[in-house]
Amino acid sequence: MEERKASSQWGSRLGFMVAALGSALGLGSLWRFPYIAAENGGGLFVLVYLIFIVLLGVPLMAAEMAIGRSSQSSPVRAYGTLATKHKRAWQSIGALGVITGVLILSYYSVVAGWSLDYFRLSLTGGLPTSNDIDAFKGVFGELLKSPGTLLFWHVVVMLCTAWVVGRGVKGGIEQVTEWLMAILFLILIVLLGYSMTLPTFIDSVKFVFGFHAEDFTSESVLEAAGHAFFTLSLGMGAMLTYGSYLDKRSGVLSTAVLVSVMDTVASLVACLVVFPVTLNGGITELKEGGPGLVFNTLPLSAQALPFGGVWISVVFALLFVAALASTVSLLEVPVSVLIDSFGLARRKATALAAGVITLLGTPAALSWTPGFFSDGMTKIFGKSWFDLVDSLSANWFLSLGALGTCLFIAFAMDRKQLAAEFVRNHEGGRKLFQLWFLTTTVVSPIIIVVVFLKTLNVF
Ligand code: PHE
Repeated sequence: MEERKASSQWGSRLGFMVAALGSALGLGSLWRFPYIAAENGGGLFVLVYLIFIVLLGVPLMAAEMAIGRSSQSSPVRAYGTLATKHKRAWQSIGALGVITGVLILSYYSVVAGWSLDYFRLSLTGGLPTSNDIDAFKGVFGELLKSPGTLLFWHVVVMLCTAWVVGRGVKGGIEQVTEWLMAILFLILIVLLGYSMTLPTFIDSVKFVFGFHAEDFTSESVLEAAGHAFFTLSLGMGAMLTYGSYLDKRSGVLSTAVLVSVMDTVASLVACLVVFPVTLNGGITELKEGGPGLVFNTLPLSAQALPFGGVWISVVFALLFVAALASTVSLLEVPVSVLIDSFGLARRKATALAAGVITLLGTPAALSWTPGFFSDGMTKIFGKSWFDLVDSLSANWFLSLGALGTCLFIAFAMDRKQLAAEFVRNHEGGRKLFQLWFLTTTVVSPIIIVVVFLKTLNVF
């Protein structure tokens, strides 16, 4: 397979790693992980999640990157060109990935918009100053019921994302994510340093790493598996697309390990910032926070701290920065397909994909507006549009895409060509390749199928 031209390749291996990390590290790690870890009892959940990162995340990320690099093409084409037979059928994995990416971005961008609105509120004194959780919940509820505000921020997020993607791989995605990640880690380290000074830090460490099984249910196992895919941007072709911009010299396995480790560290750090601050504010039941943990509970507790207002602004700036590097990778998937398979110019492809996704995000933004999708009005399968798209794409389609990729590795791709992707870079040679192959083609699919059957209540 011919390499892509230099302008459509990463400028350096570091640039690729940072971009992949930017994709992974987003709202999943900073907003979602702390509250699901709290809901599922902390320690034991974290352990199961870590096991899934090792058994599902790392092998699958290496698989996607290897498919991308080996084919030097966007998802739909990649599965087609690499399949030894039934090319068209295998292409459907890529197509499913595009649909999943489009769906995820349509509501992810709305959530990223929440952080922008909270950032604005924190700067303009719009957040409550009382110690009353209901006042904070009121602000959140108010936001969800303001379609104009939600749509405004959704459009802002989509415009920022399209601006980066439109500039291309090296000059846009790579350059901007390098900046975003540098800012993100800086903010995260400062916040961690700050939360370490709080008396509740030790209790939080005990909660995150201690073993308490009370709140850990069989649902928790599913939650952990689904989140492993989501947080590492797997199952929809983002890592495949980024891998396709990689030259043939750089290794994929080491990148997959590094990105997974960094994403996991950031998720744990997020807990060690959110929990101590929250507990310090006198809230003892972390699990009650739910999705509002970072939006309600954290600001309530943080306001009591010296310079509390400043820290709150910093937290929401952090959320937005993290989200943006992820939205960029989500948009790049359909854009790369429009360029590769339909011959569109990058700018046109970006405008088209971003336009469609902005429209698709509209019902997501209206999900809480009475009369649209909430309050018993229009519901689909008993769910609001937002919840439906979220559970369909993040829980089902990502796992399905991941399973498809495992099967592709097992049955469709030429083994020699695949091995060359690993052995060429002397990444531990044959033995390591065989271990990876076994995990990807046997262990991961079994876990995914068991998770599926369990979700469907088959046993
Ligand atoms: N990994 C991102 C996060 O944790 C979300 C994402 C999912 C990005 C799928 C790209 C693809 O926020």
